[in-house]
Amino acid sequence: MKMFDGFYNRIAKVYDFVYGAALAPGMKLAFDLMELRSGQKVLEVGIGTGLSLGYYPRNVKVTGVDLADGMLAECQKKIELGKFENVKLQKMDAMHMEFDDNSFDRIFAPSVVSVIPDPEKVVAEMLRVCKPEGMVCIVSHFAGSDLKNRLLDSMCDPVTSKIGGFRMKTPASVVENAPGGIVIKKRAVSDKVNFNTVYLLRKTHG
Ligand SMILES: C[S@@+](CC[C@H](N)C(=O)[O-])C[C@H]1O[C@@H](n2cnc3c(N)ncnc32)[C@H](O)[C@@H]1O
Repeated sequence: MKMFDGFYNRIAKVYDFVYGAALAPGMKLAFDLMELRSGQKVLEVGIGTGLSLGYYPRNVKVTGVDLADGMLAECQKKIELGKFENVKLQKMDAMHMEFDDNSFDRIFAPSVVSVIPDPEKVVAEMLRVCKPEGMVCIVSHFAGSDLKNRLLDSMCDPVTSKIGGFRMKTPASVVENAPGGIVIKKRAVSDKVNFNTVYLLRKTHG
């Protein structure tokens, strides 16, 4: 996949229809695990069209970043329609975020680690901007750990990378062995197929 080829700009208007239902169970599981509290500052990385907006309590402050103007425009429409006054958007590259170290209580990254070309870099950036007592929550598809799923991922990866906008072969080690992070929870979204996994990480140093 190229650096950022505007794929998500092109599909922004149909994104919810194509992906919304499939991503909903992972989104719900992530919000169950994140334990959001009143007054917390949350960063959502690659917020896209804002499929997550309705899950946030109104008393947390959400900053959503994304690189695709088309996705941000769809998200802004939802913010206005739903009067989500606690949500602000910024156009920003998740691999080079403009926030100070230790800025957010929660960092949420649904379906972005398998999209962004340098997944190690985005995980490092998320840990950098997370407060020492905060948590990073990642939802994504990762390469299967057994032979059957590795074969399936290898077969599907060229197609999803070309026309689906995401990779099937991102190694789970990107999250599980992230320097400066430690996995505190890991849950599969489906117990039948290797679909998406939800990870919660804490940083291991300030
Ligand atoms: C599969 S979509 C996920 C959108 C949303 N998180 C969701 O769960 O529906 C991936 C998103 O990542 C964004 N993205 C891709 N590369 C990015 C980058 N380098 N920085 C910020 N956002 C990026 C895309 O524009 C797109 O909105």
